[in-house]
Amino acid sequence: MTIAITTPRGHVGSHVLRTLVAAGVRPRLLMRDPALLDSAWHDHVDVVPCDQDDGDAVLAATRGAEALLWISPSVPDADPVAAHARLGGHVARAVTENGIARTVFLSSVGAEKRHGAGEIDGLARTEEALDATGAPVLHLRAGYFFSNLAMDLDGLREGVLRAALALDRPMPWVDPRDIAEVAAARLLAPWSAGGVQAVHGPRDLSFAEVAEVLTDVLARPVRAERTPDDDLRAGLRAVGLGEAQVEAIVGMSAGLREGFVAEQPRTVVTTTPSTLEGWAAAHLRPLL
Ligand SMILES: NC(=O)c1ccc[n+]([C@@H]2O[C@H](COP(=O)([O-])OP(=O)(O)OC[C@H]3O[C@@H](n4cnc5c(N)ncnc54)[C@H](OP(=O)(O)O)[C@@H]3O)[C@@H](O)[C@H]2O)c1
Repeated sequence: MTIAITTPRGHVGSHVLRTLVAAGVRPRLLMRDPALLDSAWHDHVDVVPCDQDDGDAVLAATRGAEALLWISPSVPDADPVAAHARLGGHVARAVTENGIARTVFLSSVGAEKRHGAGEIDGLARTEEALDATGAPVLHLRAGYFFSNLAMDLDGLREGVLRAALALDRPMPWVDPRDIAEVAAARLLAPWSAGGVQAVHGPRDLSFAEVAEVLTDVLARPVRAERTPDDDLRAGLRAVGLGEAQVEAIVGMSAGLREGFVAEQPRTVVTTTPSTLEGWAAAHLRPLL
C-alpha cells in the first residue's frame, strides 16, 4: 500500500509521518526540497521531489498512490486565497488522473462558509475541487492550532496574547498532533465514503481562558488583548503585505465572528485528547 503525504516537516505532517512509519508503512513523502528531511528517516520512507504549486509534479509524485494526505502550504502569492485554489486544482487533477482511492485533506473550521473567511476560503475552494472529482475524499475541518501561539513569542514575553476575535468567545483549539492522529488513522483504514470530519481538540476555549492557562503553565502573567481589525491591517501593511494578503489574514477572524455557527458540532468523534496545558508545557515554555 502506497500512502503519499505532503508537508512531512510541518506541524501536522511531521506527526503523520511518524505514525505511519510506526504502523509499519513506508510512506512516500512529497517535498519541495528532499535534502531538508532528517536523514534518520531515510531507511523508512521514499522521498519524491515535489513543489505542490507545480501541477505536473503533483501528478507525477502521486502516481500509484492508494491514499494521499493533502495539506495546502502557504505559497508566495499576492492572493493567498487564489493560491490555495490553484493548489486545490492540482490535487483534484492528480486524484482523478491517478485514481487515488482515498484522499484526506486538511481543511479548517470555517470552510463551510465558502466565502467571507479570508484565507480559509482558499481551503473551501480546495474542498470544492476535490468534491467535484467524485472520488472518495475526507475533509478534516480542524480547529485553531495550539501551535499558532508560537507565532507571537515577543507578545507572550511581554505578557500579552493578542487576538482579533472577541476575547470571551469560545472556539475549538487543537493540538496539531491530534489532527495527525486522525489523519493517519484515515489514511491507514480502508473507506469509500468520505465527507467532512471535524477535529476540535479537548474543549472550546476563549482567548481569555487561553491566557489563564498560559499564565499557569508559563508561570508568568499573560493577559489577552483584542486587536481591532484596522490596527491589524495597519500592522500587516507596515510589514509589506499587499491588500489581498492583508484581507486573507483579517478575514479569518472577521469571518468567524458574530453569527458564525460551525456546521459540525462538537461530538465524541470530533473531540480529541491533547490539552493546551500539556502542549504549552512541552512546546511553548522552552521557547520563552
Ligand atoms: N493554523 C491553524 O490554526 C489552522 C487551522 C486549520 C487549518 N489550517 C491549515 O493547515 C495547513 C498548514 O498545516 P501545518 O501548520 O501543519 O503546516 P506547516 O507547519 O506550516 O508546514 C507547511 C510545510 O509546507 C511545506 N511547503 C511550503 N511550500 C511548499 C511547496 N510549494 N511545495 C511543497 N511543500 C511546501 C514546507 O515544507 P519544507 O519546509 O520542508 O519545504 C512546510 O514544512 C494550512 O493549509 C492551513 O490553512 C491551519
